[in-house]
Amino acid sequence: MIDTPYYLIDKAKLLRNMEKIAYVREKSGAKALLALKCFATWCVFDFMRDYMDGTTSSSLNEVRLGHERFGKETHAYSVAYADYEIDDVISHADKIIFNSISQLERFADKSSGIVRGLRLNPMVSSSSFDLADPARPFSRLGEWDVDKIEKVMDRISGFMIHNNCENADFALFDRMLGDIETKFGALLHRAEWVSLGGGIHFTGDDYPLDLFADRLKAFAEKYGVQVYLEPGEASITRSTTLETTVLDTLFNGKNLAIVDASIEAHMLDLLIYRETAKVTPNEGPHSYMICGKSCLAGDIFGEFNFPAELKTGDRVSIQDAAGYTMVKKNWFNGVKMPAIAVKEVDGTVRVVREFSYQDYEQSLS
Ligand SMILES: Cc1ncc(COP(=O)(O)O)c(C=O)c1O
Repeated sequence: MIDTPYYLIDKAKLLRNMEKIAYVREKSGAKALLALKCFATWCVFDFMRDYMDGTTSSSLNEVRLGHERFGKETHAYSVAYADYEIDDVISHADKIIFNSISQLERFADKSSGIVRGLRLNPMVSSSSFDLADPARPFSRLGEWDVDKIEKVMDRISGFMIHNNCENADFALFDRMLGDIETKFGALLHRAEWVSLGGGIHFTGDDYPLDLFADRLKAFAEKYGVQVYLEPGEASITRSTTLETTVLDTLFNGKNLAIVDASIEAHMLDLLIYRETAKVTPNEGPHSYMICGKSCLAGDIFGEFNFPAELKTGDRVSIQDAAGYTMVKKNWFNGVKMPAIAVKEVDGTVRVVREFSYQDYEQSLS
């Protein structure tokens, strides 16, 4: 028995996503880069490497991790590079993608020896959440003025466009790609490669993989470009759980169970986007609010149904705990940091990392 709390990455479940990604790559000719902003737990990179083409990044630390731990093709992107990091970024990257024309110009000399691209903002997205909408009013994420972009075409060979957000609707993806073609068609014809970013939930159940792959292939052929995808969530969705233990139960008009983890510290994105966690099968006559152990009043994973009453010592397994979780975990309240464990395809489980008081202490000074 491994002490909770811990994140448990299940390779057999990860494999389901990897096989779908490999299928799309094969059928469409698109390359797939893991978006490290979503998932950077490198203990499973050896496993993922066979199914993906490399990584994409959003900072110097990520591009370095991608280069050193994943290998293969490494894309560098950042909302803005600083003078003190640009040389390091370039030394770890195969391509560098600038977020703005001014950054491209500022680092034109330093980046002259590496493949360069620019982020485009088509001003249309699938996000319903303002906070995560790259096409929100006054967005800083990418260039949109075709006349201005045309003037720097001699310096770049490709584009990155990220405007899908948790998009499980192929028809919407297809329509928005059509919008992109209408807006930027002339530029796309002059490009050698185009990354369509992440946010496409093509590894989910019932996603029309063949239609998706055909659309990517047709796009690639029409413009004569190498297409890239940057799946984050789609790479790791439903592969990982956060394993917790009930520490206390209370009744305050509702049944409450306090577990030895924290949504604030260990699954922060759920709080930010006001979503509840998932517990399966979520069936049975006993309903509980599963609460985290930080002092934040709203540190609540959600309300779920269980077949029996919960008592101290019971295990609660929080589903879908890979994406935007471990990359955002923090030491709020000094709560014990979940270990990281991996379940191999043959069912054996090993702990790959535990965190101690020293890690907490060293995260501050
Ligand atoms: C440029 C870029 N690429 C890829 C991703 C990964 O998106 P997702 O994890 O939704 O697939 C993001 C997410 O914000 C992004 O901004």
